[in-house]
Amino acid sequence: MHVAFRDMNTKYGDIVYLNVCGQPMIVLGTHEAATDLLEKRSANYSGRLFSVMSILSGWEWLFSVTDYGTQWRKTRRLLHEYMHPNAVKQYRPIQEREVTKYLLRLLEHPEDFLHHGRHLFGAITIRAGYGIDVDTDKEIDYLEIAERAMAAFAVTFLPGKYLVELVPILRYLPSCIPGGHFKREAAEWSPIVRKMREVPWNAAMTALREGRGLPSMASGLLERTSGLDPEAAAEQVEFSKDAVAAAYTGGADTTLSTLQNIYVAMASFPEVQKRAQAELDAVVGPHRLPTFSDKEDLPYVTALIKESLRWRPVSPLALIHVSMEEDEYKGFCIPKRSAMVFNIWAYTQDPRLYPDPQAFKPERYLRDGKIDPDVQDPAGIAFGYGRRICPGRHFAEASLFAVVSKLLHTMSIEPPRDESGQPIDLAKTVKMTHGIISYPEPFECIIKPRSPEAETLIRNACSEVEAASA
Ligand code: HEM
Repeated sequence: MHVAFRDMNTKYGDIVYLNVCGQPMIVLGTHEAATDLLEKRSANYSGRLFSVMSILSGWEWLFSVTDYGTQWRKTRRLLHEYMHPNAVKQYRPIQEREVTKYLLRLLEHPEDFLHHGRHLFGAITIRAGYGIDVDTDKEIDYLEIAERAMAAFAVTFLPGKYLVELVPILRYLPSCIPGGHFKREAAEWSPIVRKMREVPWNAAMTALREGRGLPSMASGLLERTSGLDPEAAAEQVEFSKDAVAAAYTGGADTTLSTLQNIYVAMASFPEVQKRAQAELDAVVGPHRLPTFSDKEDLPYVTALIKESLRWRPVSPLALIHVSMEEDEYKGFCIPKRSAMVFNIWAYTQDPRLYPDPQAFKPERYLRDGKIDPDVQDPAGIAFGYGRRICPGRHFAEASLFAVVSKLLHTMSIEPPRDESGQPIDLAKTVKMTHGIISYPEPFECIIKPRSPEAETLIRNACSEVEAASA
């Protein structure tokens, strides 16, 4: 769909109007148009479409998909307090620790690298959000709950999947007649969606009551309810639950898909991998793992992460914004309640912003060995726009820095070989899946420690992590 929209904009101009069964839709063809409207006029362009499937399948608490209004504002504000650039520094020890454990898993079972990535981002998000360590608290399979709920999320919000989204009156069809399958599907998902919001929160509350709770977003939010009258406290708890669960829903799979694309890129562009490793060798050296304090001295690694947000954006069409009032832009009338489609994929592949867009080139962001402020930062596109911009972007970038710097410092990533022993070009063969979050289709890689010293470094760092948590 993102390709079709891009082609439509190329043919008809930067602003295309469509009428989709009576719903006005504006397709914005450039980053500039998206910035002009969704960012500079964000007071008018921060709504979301009403979704019948969201209500039927139990996602009504998720502020990412709710319209502009009190529920969205209150929940987003709570999440922001734990996700702004200074606040996310508190999660660095969690990110460092989980990445170290991830490296050991990779070392011992490199063939399961896709699974380890899922475990890594699930573990970081659940520890930061709820204070739960998924490796020690094994009574409940939090990662499985998240995986199943996210599978439901992917289908529920797949654009064009359900006719009922365009013809809401269909929601009154009985589920047993042909065409009523959407109701049966929604009914199947709603228990797991509810679990995703309730189960980790309740576990965190139990742990806090029993005095074994760890500091987290949930514990911080709970503290803020003390001193409120019981009704206000109960309301605050509900918003807090929504805020943490929104981080849990928005955070893990998007960052995971970005990391999977980094594997594809590293296996396909060995010269980029070598240059990043040369920078790590020079700055960090062989006797320790990189940390956040090295970031300033690692511009190439930083540029590599920027390029990974651009090269294959994981949310090509993101979530549609809605205009609250009628507006005018460049002589066009934009009707009230128009669906504003912004095409992250098209903007990040625009050769005017990024020449040779299919190549993975971190150096496009560098000038004289520093990040070049004149090149459009892909983070300014990949995380959306205006008041709806991704609140987890600083957290995501920090998680990516933690994993990419340590991974490339210690491991080498090579493409798999075909029957004749020739390397397979993953950039050509691995396609992205369709959906609101897009992933590379499953693929293989050869992952090895860069040296015996790198292996020792990982094992020692892991022993330290284990000793510290014992
Ligand atoms: C590489 C990782 C990520 C990418 C590419 C990404 C991308 C996006 C995009 C494109 C949007 C829609 C923005 C818009 O409508 O203009 C969004 C929204 C959102 N993201 Fe992220 N995201 C990432 C990681 C995270 C993380 C780590 C969290 C939480 C900790 C998070 C939580 C959210 C939430 C709650 C929203 C809804 C915001 C709203 O509607 O007000 N995301 N993200």
